[in-house]
Amino acid sequence: MIFHDAVDSTNRIALEMPEAPHLTVVTADSQTGGRGRMGRKYFSYGGGLYMSVILDAKKIGIPLHLCTPAAAVAVFEALRELGVSDLRIKWVNDLYRNGKKICGILTECRSDNNGISRIVVGIGINLTNPEDGFPEEIKHKAGCTDYCGDKITLATAIAKRLGELVSSTRSTVVEAYREKMAWIGEQVTVTDYADGNKKVEGTVVGITDDCFLMIDTDDGSRRILSSGEIVK
Ligand code: BTN
Repeated sequence: MIFHDAVDSTNRIALEMPEAPHLTVVTADSQTGGRGRMGRKYFSYGGGLYMSVILDAKKIGIPLHLCTPAAAVAVFEALRELGVSDLRIKWVNDLYRNGKKICGILTECRSDNNGISRIVVGIGINLTNPEDGFPEEIKHKAGCTDYCGDKITLATAIAKRLGELVSSTRSTVVEAYREKMAWIGEQVTVTDYADGNKKVEGTVVGITDDCFLMIDTDDGSRRILSSGEIVK
């Protein structure tokens, strides 16, 4: 585990470590250029944990696209073990607590001549509330874990569980993910990134064995979404 106080992005640093062994972890107390999904910036203040876990593609037993769901399960289970309750996974890569986002995950890859060689799973967790509050644009949806323990204990527990899950099986990951999902049976709107950001409205049924989202739409059909964002 490599510790930093402040960096631009732990994912950027981890992606530039092609020789780092499987399960090397880069952590920071804050980030000035935290990267979020869809090119967004990730607010990375001093009250959070920012970490990137480097995975060696040769050592992964599950399909590579399940590394992000595996990370969501690992964060959920590590936090729960350390006493944080009321967690849910919001498909596909966010953790919520009491209806507020407390964790985001961004997975990036590095390739060589033989294809994908390294997978960097970046995890940002809001541990306590920022002294000056969350920025205006996210304050309606951002929450925190209220975890006041040691950050390294938490980072270690997450990396250890992620290591176990990526060497397990597809069904282990998918089953563990399924039982932790938010909004099963509830009405939602989903932005379908694979279909020009079209909105899909319907009821959340669950996930397929590829961790794709199943929605029963209001017109009676079932839709399977491979990538997107749920809006409640
Ligand atoms: C999202 O919710 O959009 C994903 C956010 C992922 C943020 C983490 S923080 C650690 C790692 N380093 C980064 O620059 N981003 C990820």
